[in-house]
Amino acid sequence: MKNIAVIGAGTMGNGIAHTFAQSGYTVKLIDVSEKSLDKGMATIAANLDRMVAKGTISEEDKLKTIGNIITYTDLKDGVVGADVVVEAATENVDLKLNIFRQLNEHCSHSTILATNTSSISITQIAAVVTHPERVIGMHFMNPVPIMKLVEIIRGYNTSSEVTKAIMELSVKLNKVPVEVNDYPGFVANRILMPMINEAIETLYNKVAGVYEIDTVMKLGMGQPMGPLQLADFIGLDVCLAILNVMHDGFKNPKYAPCPLLVNMVRAGKLGVKSGEGFYDYSESKKAEKIAKMFA
Ligand SMILES: NC(=O)c1ccc[n+]([C@@H]2O[C@H](COP(=O)([O-])OP(=O)(O)OC[C@H]3O[C@@H](n4cnc5c(N)ncnc54)[C@H](O)[C@@H]3O)[C@@H](O)[C@H]2O)c1
Repeated sequence: MKNIAVIGAGTMGNGIAHTFAQSGYTVKLIDVSEKSLDKGMATIAANLDRMVAKGTISEEDKLKTIGNIITYTDLKDGVVGADVVVEAATENVDLKLNIFRQLNEHCSHSTILATNTSSISITQIAAVVTHPERVIGMHFMNPVPIMKLVEIIRGYNTSSEVTKAIMELSVKLNKVPVEVNDYPGFVANRILMPMINEAIETLYNKVAGVYEIDTVMKLGMGQPMGPLQLADFIGLDVCLAILNVMHDGFKNPKYAPCPLLVNMVRAGKLGVKSGEGFYDYSESKKAEKIAKMFA
C-alpha cells in the first residue's frame, strides 16, 4: 500500500493528506473545488512550517511531504491506481453515495475504500459498491497531524482482512486505531455530540455565556478546550449533520439538535472555517488560535 487517494481537501482532507504524505505515502488529493485545493495545500504548508519552527521536522522533511502530494479536481484521474481511497468530502449521505458509486466504477476491485464520515452508516455506503467487504470507516480526529486516535468502523460486510490492513496502516501513520461497530455516531460522536449539543442548549437557555460555559468545562473537567470552541473547530455544519444522523438513526429526541445550532448554520456561522461561530476568527485572531492548537 503506497498510493493513497484522499477525496475532499477541507478541514479533515488536508490533514489526512498531510499525515500520509509525511509518512512517505504518495497522495492524490482530490476536490471538486480548485479553491479548496489551494486552501488545503496552503494549510498543509503552514502546519509544516510550524513543525519546522518547533524543530519537530526538518526543512527537507517539509519539502518531501509537500512533494508527495498531487492535487486533482477530477475524481477519476485522482483515484486511478490507488491502493486505498480515504473519502473526506462534505458530511452528506447523498453526496457520499454518489462518490462511492463513482469509486466503484473507476477503482480496481481490490482497492480499499475508506470513509472518514463522522456518523453516516458504513453499511449504507458499502451497499452501493460491488465488493462491500472492502468498505470501512477510517475516522481521523481533528487536527489530524496531531491527534493520535483513528476510530476504525467495521460495516456489516467489512472483511477481517480489510479491517486488519487498515488497522496496520493506521499504526504506520503513528496513530492508535480502535475498532468499533457501525451504529449512528459510532463511539466518538455518540458521546461527544450530545455534550456539545447540551453546551449549546445551555447557552440557548441563557444559563451562562460562551466564555463561562467553556471555562467550566475546561478548568472544571480538565478538557483541553471548551465544547463551544471545539464545535467551532469541528464546524457547526458538521456537528448539525452528525446530530441529525443520530436523531434519525435512533429515533430518540435526546439527539435533536438545539435550535440555536440550526439557526447559526442557516446564518452561515460555521465556526473557524467561515470566520465566525461561537467565537470570532477574523484573520489575525484565527492565525493566533490555530497557532496555539499546534503549540
Ligand atoms: N471537521 C471535523 O472535525 C471532522 C472530524 C472527523 C471527521 N469529519 C468528517 O470528515 C468529512 C469532511 O469534513 P470536513 O470537516 O473536512 O468538511 P469541510 O467542509 O471542511 O470540507 C469538505 C470538502 O469536501 C469537498 N467536496 C464536496 N463534495 C465533493 C466531491 N463530490 N468530491 C470531492 N470533494 C468534495 C468540498 O469542496 C470541501 O473542500 C465529513 O464526513 C466529516 O463528517 C470531520
